[in-house]
Amino acid sequence: MRDLLVDDASQVYLDTEVATGGSPTLLLVHGFPLSHRMWCGQVDGLSEVCRVVAPDLRGYGESCRGEWPKADEPPTLARYADDLAALIDHLQSEGPVVLAGFSMGGYIALEMQRRHADRFDALVLIDTKAAADTEEARATRLKMADKIGEWGAARVAELMRPNLFAPETPERIANETVRDIASTRPEAIAVSQRAMAARPDSTPLLSRIDEPTLVVCGEHDAISPPAEMRGIAHAIPDAQFVEIEGASHMAPVEKPDAVNAALREFLVGL
Ligand code: MLT
Repeated sequence: MRDLLVDDASQVYLDTEVATGGSPTLLLVHGFPLSHRMWCGQVDGLSEVCRVVAPDLRGYGESCRGEWPKADEPPTLARYADDLAALIDHLQSEGPVVLAGFSMGGYIALEMQRRHADRFDALVLIDTKAAADTEEARATRLKMADKIGEWGAARVAELMRPNLFAPETPERIANETVRDIASTRPEAIAVSQRAMAARPDSTPLLSRIDEPTLVVCGEHDAISPPAEMRGIAHAIPDAQFVEIEGASHMAPVEKPDAVNAALREFLVGL
């Protein structure tokens, strides 16, 4: 793990650093409320074909130094996007940079598209959405942000668990993710929920994405369903869609080999 100081806060990231010359750098952005650990199947399976970089977003995992948000700063996904832009600059990759975001990481990738499209060459959207929250979803997020001090992250893990995995996903795999969620700092949960609640609708942005894009979705994902993600791929001029059979929302964790095969084919075609 390496550590980059951005605006007084640490951004800790895993960097396989093995790819050389013009091979791609794959920057993997985790979902809510997880950490770089969700990507271990991709780190193991893809580090021979590319440099894999997986940060803990500000406040998550080992990225725990630094105060955020400051008293006068409302939490937004833009903060995470700016951190990632600083990380990409720091990496000084020779080959193309491929930005891959899972769920909340996908919302952040779309924010990167809005703010820092010059920093990456290809985009991967995994089990995510372009639309903003409904009023009901926003209210649920803000309630969690308000109550998290009382609830604790373990309750969030149990609330989320039923929507994350397909019935065939082994208990052992589900338990690892649940443990990762339960170990998240309550402050990070509150900040991300407020930032996600405030995010704009990215649907109008899709037709302006000019990088090659891969859209990946678990067959049984009920949070970001395949029909919705197929629509995202359809709206992006140069996009392909891959459905992961037998997976739900946590497709990269549930079916790492299938997700890696889709990523590998995309990387090779760049
Ligand atoms: C995630 O997996 O990142 C979350 O389900 C995103 C969300 O809460 O919308």
